Amino acid sequence: MREIINPEKIIYWDEAIKQVKARLGKNLPKAWELRSYQYLAEHPLISAKGIHGQLHVARVWVHGRVLGGLIDGVFNQQAVDLFAIEHDRQRYNDGYDWFHGIRAAKDMMVRLKQAVDPVTLELAAKICYWHVFPEQLVPHKLRQTSEWQIATHADALDRTRNGEPHDIGDLNLKYLKLQESLLLIDIARELAARSNNSRENPFTAVETAGLEMGLLQ
Ligand SMILES: [Fe+2]
Ligand SMILES: [Fe+2]
Repeated sequence: MREIINPEKIIYWDEAIKQVKARLGKNLPKAWELRSYQYLAEHPLISAKGIHGQLHVARVWVHGRVLGGLIDGVFNQQAVDLFAIEHDRQRYNDGYDWFHGIRAAKDMMVRLKQAVDPVTLELAAKICYWHVFPEQLVPHKLRQTSEWQIATHADALDRTRNGEPHDIGDLNLKYLKLQESLLLIDIARELAARSNNSRENPFTAVETAGLEMGLLQ
């Protein structure tokens, strides 16, 4: 689970999807599950445009679900789902906005207090709080959790959004330490390419691309 990935091992998306499907079977994420988070992304509204907008959060949600399905062991998938939708909501800009995670954590702890079980909400907020900072500053205990690892890898995988076919875009492979991420690198790049080029509503665009690729059911 903590191996460093050799870039030469990147598997092209069409082959990678076959392996994901074989491993996840009936546990592939469902389109309606993605759609059920659209309301949260729109209330209050996360921008439909921009590199940290709704396309990004919807794709991070998908990557979190797929990666979650590939990882052994028990963990809190809802905390990862919430991270996906909430983590970039409080950005002031698309650059080095170091405190957007702290603002996201504070905001969600208040706004979602009555809607989410407190243990899940606190964990999701903690991951949001720390996700912007260099890993060595993040509390060791949090870094060891599957939820932290899945959530931050899912976020990183969307850095392939600018990649040409079979290229990794802005993704820095040194940040990917989960062996399971190998399978998802080119899948993430293809999902981004397809949804970026769509004229549909962002969640619908990601859903359509995910269904076409066979990543969602
Ligand atoms: Fe962020
Ligand atoms: Fe992000």
